[in-house]
Amino acid sequence: MPTTHPGPEPRPLAAGTALDALETPCLLLDEARLRANVAGMRAHLTRLGVAFRPHLKTAKSLDVARIAMTTPEGPAMVSTLREAESFAEGGVRDMIYGVGIAPAKLDRVAAIRARGADLAVILDSVAQADAVAAHARSSGDSVPVLIEVDADGHRSGVAPTDTATLVAIGQRLTAGHATLRGVLLHAGDSYAIQHDPTALTAAAEAECRAAIMAAEALRAAGLSCPVVSVGSTPTARYARDLAGITEVRAGVFMFGDLFQAGVGSVAVEDIALSVLATVIGHQPAKGWIITDAGWMALSRDRGTARQAVDQGYGVVCDLAGRPYRDLIVADANQEHGIVALRRGAEAALPDLPIGSRLRILPNHACATGAQHDRYHVLDAQGRVGAVWPRINGW
Ligand SMILES: Cc1ncc(COP(=O)(O)O)c(C=O)c1O
Repeated sequence: MPTTHPGPEPRPLAAGTALDALETPCLLLDEARLRANVAGMRAHLTRLGVAFRPHLKTAKSLDVARIAMTTPEGPAMVSTLREAESFAEGGVRDMIYGVGIAPAKLDRVAAIRARGADLAVILDSVAQADAVAAHARSSGDSVPVLIEVDADGHRSGVAPTDTATLVAIGQRLTAGHATLRGVLLHAGDSYAIQHDPTALTAAAEAECRAAIMAAEALRAAGLSCPVVSVGSTPTARYARDLAGITEVRAGVFMFGDLFQAGVGSVAVEDIALSVLATVIGHQPAKGWIITDAGWMALSRDRGTARQAVDQGYGVVCDLAGRPYRDLIVADANQEHGIVALRRGAEAALPDLPIGSRLRILPNHACATGAQHDRYHVLDAQGRVGAVWPRINGW
C-alpha cells in the first residue's frame, strides 16, 4: 500500500465566523435555501402521492442527507459505494446505488448490506443479472435489484418495449435467488429543455409511461415489481400526475445551479451553493477583475454554454448572495477567475478593490461541490454556523 501523507488540518472555525474571515476559495452552503428547496420538493411530491428518494450525489454529505431524507433511515439514492458506506455508518438503512453494477463491486455491496443497510443495485443486462444471481447464490444474500429502463435514449437502460430482455433479466435474477425489486428510470434528456413548462411536463409524462410499461411487462410475466422509481430534477419538478409510480428521485434541486435555472427547474435566487472568492487583481484596459477562484474551485463545467444564456464559469454575487448585474466569471485558469461583464452588457463594472470578497454561483452544483472537501454552512445572519464534510471519491 502506498503511504499517504494527509495535508494539514484546516484551522477550526468559531461558530459565527464572518465570511471576511474565511480562507478563499471555499464552498458556501446557504442552509435556509437548502431547507426551503427540500421542503418545496417534498410538499409537491406529497401532493402527488409518491414517496421521495433524494439523490445524494450532489450533496455527498450526511448532514445534508438528514435534511433531505424523510426519515433518518432514508430512503436515499447514492452515486458511489463510498457514499453508501458513509451513509450506512451514519444510520441510513434504505439506499439504491444508482450506477449500473459492475460484478467486481458486489463484494463491497454485500459488506454494506451485512452491516444492516438495505442497499439495492441497478442493472440493464442479462450478463449483469447473471453475475448478481451467481453472487446471491454463493453468498446467500438475496441482493435487491432494480432493472434500469431507458426513459428517453439519454444513457443506459433496457428499452421499455423490449419485453423479452426485461423478462429474461427478471427470470435470471429470481432463479438465482436475487430479489427483483422493481424498475428505475432517469429522464436525463429533460436537461436539454429550456423554459418550456409544457415540454417539461411532457418529459415527466413520457418517463412515467415508460416506467409503467416496463413494470406491467414484468408483472404480466408473473414477476413481482413493487417499486416503480422515476426521477430527475426537471421531471420531478414538472410532474403533474404520478399514478402508477411509487417513488421519485431528485438531487441537484437541493442546491440548484445555473444550468437548472437555464432549464427552468430552479430559480437563480434559490441557489444554495456558492464559491467564496477574493479579488486579487485588475486589468482595467481589458475590463477584467481577477479572483483567486479559478476552475479548480469552480470546476470546468461549462454546461450553460449550450443554453440560451451562457453564464461563463458562474454568476458573480456580493457577499449577501445578490448577483451583480451582468457580471460573470468570463474565463478561468486553474487558480484564477477572470470576472468581466457579459458581452453587450450595459451595466458598469463594479468597484471591487483588492481583497474584496465575492460569491460565485455555480453552473453545475455536483461538479463544483466535487472540487471541495467541506461546506461552510451559512446561518440566518449570513455567517458560518457550521462546517460539514463531504464524501468525495469512490
Ligand atoms: C439514476 C439517476 N436518478 C436520479 C438522478 C437525479 O437527477 P437530478 O440530478 O436531475 O436531480 C440522477 C442524476 O444524475 C441519476 O443519474
